[in-house]
Amino acid sequence: MIINSICVCGAGTMGASIAQTLAQAGFYTILYDLNPVMLENAGTRIEKNLGDQTQKGRLRLGEKERITGLIRFTGDIQSCVADVFIEAIVEKPELKLALFNQLAELNHSECIFASNTSSLSITRIAEKIKNPERVIGMHFFNPATIMKLVEIVNTTYTNSNTTDTIVELAMNMGKTPVLCRDSPGFIVNRVARPYYIESLRIVEEGLTDISHLDMLLEATGFKLGPFKLMDLIGNDVNYAVSCSVFEQLGKPARLMPSPIQEQKVKDGKLGRKSGEGYYPYPQKKN
Ligand SMILES: NC(=O)c1ccc[n+]([C@@H]2O[C@H](COP(=O)([O-])OP(=O)(O)OC[C@H]3O[C@@H](n4cnc5c(N)ncnc54)[C@H](O)[C@@H]3O)[C@@H](O)[C@H]2O)c1
Repeated sequence: MIINSICVCGAGTMGASIAQTLAQAGFYTILYDLNPVMLENAGTRIEKNLGDQTQKGRLRLGEKERITGLIRFTGDIQSCVADVFIEAIVEKPELKLALFNQLAELNHSECIFASNTSSLSITRIAEKIKNPERVIGMHFFNPATIMKLVEIVNTTYTNSNTTDTIVELAMNMGKTPVLCRDSPGFIVNRVARPYYIESLRIVEEGLTDISHLDMLLEATGFKLGPFKLMDLIGNDVNYAVSCSVFEQLGKPARLMPSPIQEQKVKDGKLGRKSGEGYYPYPQKKN
C-alpha cells in the first residue's frame, strides 16, 4: 500500500516522539490531540529536540524547518484524513476503540489502524471495528526517536497487506520491526514486568530504598534503574500496563501491581511529565 499521509493520535510522551520520527523519515504527518495544551507542549518538545540535534551536528542547517514543516498539529478530528493512523492515546480500551470507530467514519475503508498500546489486546479492539483485518499493534519504545525496536502485533484478523505495510513503514522510520502474536504485554512488557514489580516489592519490604535500588541495578548494567525508568514511562501508563497484564494472565501473585505505584498515580506523581514521580523533575521556565 502506498502511504501518502499518516496521522498520529495523542500528542503525549509517545505520540509527539513518534510524529517527530515520522517527519524525520520524510512522512507528511498529522498530530492530533483533544487537549490543546498537549499539542502546544508537543510542538515545543519537538522543536527543542531538533534544535539539540542541530547543535550536536546531527542535523544540517535548515533541516529542522523542513522536518517541522511536515507536521500539522490539530485538535479537529474532522481533519484527520490519512492512510495510516498510529494511535498513542491513554491506555484505556474503550477510548481507543471509540477513536478508531470515529476515524473509520471519516476515512477510506482500507486505512490502517495501528495501536501503540503497551498491553491491551489488539484482537479485542479489532473485533469491534469495521474491517478488522486493517487493525494491528505498532508498539514503539520510549523515547521513540531513539529506541530502535518496534513490536508489530498481529491478530488472527490482520491481513498480510496490513502487516507488510506496517513492517515497511517501521523500516522506513529506521526502526527494527519484530513480529509477534497478540498476547498480554506482547513480548517486551511481559518480560519487563517483574523488573518493576519485584523492585517495588523490595522497597515495600523495606530491604532498601529507591535510589539505592536504581544505583545497584544500573551498576549491574541496566541503562536505567526501575524507578528512573518508571518515571520516564509515566507512572500512570506503567501502572495501567501492570494491571492489564496481571488481569489478562489470570492474576498470578508474582505479577500483582504494587500499592506504592497505585498511590503515586492517585497523588498525580506521574514522573517526568508531571514534574514529580519517584524523583523530582523541576520544570524549566521558558
Ligand atoms: N510512556 C511510555 O513509555 C510508553 C511506551 C510504549 C507505549 N506506550 C503506550 O502509548 C500510549 C500513550 O502513552 P503516553 O505515555 O504517550 O501517554 P500520555 O499520557 O503522555 O499521552 C496521552 C495523550 O493522549 C491524549 N488523548 C487522550 N484521549 C484522547 C482522545 N480520545 N483523542 C485524542 N487524544 C487523546 C491526551 O490528551 C494525551 O496528550 C498508551 O497506550 C501507552 O500504553 C507508552
